[in-house]
Amino acid sequence: MQEKKGFNTKAVSEGELKDKRFGNVTTPIFETATFLYPNFTQDRYSDEKTNDSFIYSRWGNPTVNALEKKYASLEDVKHGLSFSTGMAAITSLLLSIGKMEKKALSIFDLYGQTLSFFKNKYTAMTGNKIDIISVDQMNSGDFNPSEYSMIYLESITNPSMKVLDLVELGKICRENHITLITDATFASPYNQNPAKLGSDFVVHSGTKYLNGHSDTMSGFIGSDHDLMKTFDMRKNLGGSLDAFQAFLIQRGLKTLGLRMERHNKNTIQIAEFLKEHSKVIDVMYPGLTDNKYHSIGKKNLMGFGGMLSFRVKGGLEGARKFLFSLEYIAPAPSLGGVESLATLPVDTSHASASMEDRKSIGVTEDMVRFSTGIEDPEDLIEDIGKALSQIS
Ligand SMILES: Cc1ncc(COP(=O)(O)O)c(C=O)c1O
Repeated sequence: MQEKKGFNTKAVSEGELKDKRFGNVTTPIFETATFLYPNFTQDRYSDEKTNDSFIYSRWGNPTVNALEKKYASLEDVKHGLSFSTGMAAITSLLLSIGKMEKKALSIFDLYGQTLSFFKNKYTAMTGNKIDIISVDQMNSGDFNPSEYSMIYLESITNPSMKVLDLVELGKICRENHITLITDATFASPYNQNPAKLGSDFVVHSGTKYLNGHSDTMSGFIGSDHDLMKTFDMRKNLGGSLDAFQAFLIQRGLKTLGLRMERHNKNTIQIAEFLKEHSKVIDVMYPGLTDNKYHSIGKKNLMGFGGMLSFRVKGGLEGARKFLFSLEYIAPAPSLGGVESLATLPVDTSHASASMEDRKSIGVTEDMVRFSTGIEDPEDLIEDIGKALSQIS
């Protein structure tokens, strides 16, 4: 067997908790709040994070550990930590890093809840000031690195699908001892491993592609950093993952590579169909060769992903008409599942964003965000085409 296994082999086999005494082939669900402690059993299992036997499931659980190992192998990092939601992962990490010498820097195009945390709570909770700039300023290095201790990014942004140049930003961060955190939810570890591009910490909403079936919530942090070994903010804040959720997510992770391959293929076909459609004004997908972020995407991504946005004729009315004319595709705000979903950012993810914020991110009333599933592309294109024909 090759020393470095392929993505799908790792997805299937890494982390599985097999015990020859039972002969189990898949990881069992350890749905238990607590464990015998102290446990003097000779061949007891240890929680690798503490090197001690398991004690209490908020601190560590065998099913959860198995999932974290599988995730870390796919992210190509030493340590993986799971959380009850993506927001629990993000806030636990930011609070764990805590007070820094200098300011933090981020972009306007963040997931709404992350942006509101940075704007309204981060400074009070950590004592760090934060500056927020545009994606294009970030990509062109239009900031003074000596003012910052941390940069926080999303590698493909929501909903305009801009791509961050992690290769270049990783270099700037290394040269200036800046901690780089990347939320790579939209890319998934199949399309991007930010740690390989210079990110110190990678975060994910596991609710999306990692689980992939829109039926459970989770968050992840991946890193080689030693902070991960002694990460007690999860114990403090309590955003731990339950064993049953962990079981579902590790089951979903086994097909991440297969799903992403299909998401990537379906999405470029849909993007090309939309580009030629008379009711569509603009298509935002970095996989299109004439997209502003295509060349940055080629440098930073192994695939362009399953998310695209487009603008339709007829303003908000036209966009709503499209959404509610879809027969098969569900109008719903999440993403990254096997089923395609469509949503209007102004009605969901950016409903509470100010007009100014919407403008700086490029969110318009006629914008539809589309999460492409793994269905047959001809069926998706037929449903989208019929719904577009309803716009007057
Ligand atoms: C890019 C991104 N990061 C983080 C989150 C938060 O994840 P969760 O909803 O699992 O808390 C989301 C949720 O949509 C997201 O889209």
